Formats: sequence, C-alpha cells, structure tokens
Amino acid sequence: MRTIRPAIASDIPGIAQVCEAAFAEQIEPEVCLRQIAAPTIDLHVAVEGNEVAGFVLRLRPRWRSGQPRLAVRPQSQGRGYGQRLIESTWTAARRRGFRLSRALIRADNAPSQRCFAHCGYATDQRPHSLYIWPPQSGAANGKTDPVRLLPVDTITYRGLWLEGLADASAEIQHRAVQQARAYCAREDRGPSRALITDPSRLDVALLEQAELKGEYYWWTITL
Ligand SMILES: CC(C)(COP(=O)(O)OP(=O)(O)OC[C@H]1O[C@@H](n2cnc3c(N)ncnc32)[C@H](O)[C@@H]1OP(=O)(O)O)[C@@H](O)C(=O)NCCC(=O)NCCS
Repeated sequence: MRTIRPAIASDIPGIAQVCEAAFAEQIEPEVCLRQIAAPTIDLHVAVEGNEVAGFVLRLRPRWRSGQPRLAVRPQSQGRGYGQRLIESTWTAARRRGFRLSRALIRADNAPSQRCFAHCGYATDQRPHSLYIWPPQSGAANGKTDPVRLLPVDTITYRGLWLEGLADASAEIQHRAVQQARAYCAREDRGPSRALITDPSRLDVALLEQAELKGEYYWWTITL
C-alpha cells in the first residue's frame, strides 16, 4: 500500500529514520508531536507498506521559514513521493487563504530542484547566501527595526530567522544579531540564520562571526 496522509504520533520513529537517512539530522520528537497536533501546521507522510517512506512539513507559508521541509528515504526516491508530498500541502494552504507557496532550495540540490520544478515551481535563479551565527549568551536590548527576529521550530531545527538584516544600519545589524544569539542561548535553541542577497551590505565584523552555509534559490508557485 502506498499513500500520503497526515502524520500521526506513531509515525514519529519512522519520520526520525527518514530524516536521519535523508539529511543525517536528528528530529526533535516533542516538536514533531506538537506539529502533528497543531491545526495550522501540515505534517504529511508517505507510507509504503507499514513504513514511513517520506514526509513534508509546512509551517506558515508567509514566513521565509514556511517553505516545506521535504525528505524521502533513499530506497523510495524516484517513485513520485516527493511530488505527491509537495502537492498534498496545497489544499490546506489554499483553504487558509495562501496564494503562493515558496521553497528555499540549495543551488546544488538537483533532485529537489527537479522535484519542485515537476510540481510547477519556478525560480528566478537569484542566489541568496545563508549565514548562521551560533548562540551566544550576553545582555541584549533595544529596538531592532527594520530587522525582524522570528523564532522557528522545524522538525530538526529550533532556532531563529533574522529578516531584513541587510536593510539595516551596521549598528542595528549588530544589535539584532546580538539579541538573536542571546535569545537562542537563553532558550537553549540552535543558531540564528539570515538569507542575504548581497553580502557587501552586511557589516564585515558580522560576516566574520558567521558561518556561510551555502547558496540557495527561492522557488515559487501560485496556488
Ligand atoms: C528531493 C527529494 C525529496 C525528492 O524525492 P523523490 O520522491 O525522489 O522525488 P520524485 O520521485 O517525486 O522525483 C522528482 C524528480 O526528482 C528526480 N530525482 C529524485 N531523486 C533524484 C536523485 N537522487 N538524483 C537526480 N534526480 C532525482 C526524479 O528523477 C524526478 O525527476 P524526473 O521525473 O525528471 O526523473 C529526495 O531526493 C530527498 O529526500 N532528498 C534528500 C533531502 C532533500 O534534499 N530534501 C529537499 C530539501 S529542499
């Protein structure tokens, strides 16, 4: 039997195995359980026999972090699960009034790009660099406008996204990153992340503290 359906609690060990095989990452089981119960989050699994062959997780599509987290275990890849999982999230997204679905895909991830392209997603090929800063405790306060600090819990990552960082002055950039890192240290979270189109707009000292995780493209589709 092959099917795509909303995840249930007993799928969590299978989801963990897929995640380990596809990303070499551990899941956060309590976060996964909360996501299964949350009415605003779609976590769907592909089931082959009695086993979880893949999953897709969609948080809030209007967020940068709302792109689907998608994985299919290696032995089940190339059988159409990826496409069916992506498409399975559209109905609920439309029902909630979302007209756009976006996916952030590494520039060198050809299987994922093909999978999303087959579903009708397109990219403008504009590269975005992903920078991360590890948690760092310290005092941090003051306004960070126009930078937004968005804590996010995905299946493998509890961290924080910084949005609008490149649009801020150097002083605000530093304050925002410092606050983000302090928050993540306090809350026992992972690193803070920012997507930057033009790294020359980031203060050099901040770039030196960051780790560059690679280049990504946005892929979008109108729902
Ligand atoms: C990306 C991924 C989810 C695709 O799942 P899938 O079930 O294999 O996808 P589908 O079967 O629907 O195939 C979609 C397309 O991708 C292609 N594809 C799948 N695996 C591939 C691979 N290893 N290399 C090249 N192309 C691949 C398929 O051939 C198909 O294209 P085609 O019809 O032109 O041949 C899967 O490869 C995966 O889990 N990768 C590791 C995790 C990952 O990168 N997730 C996405 C992060 S954005």
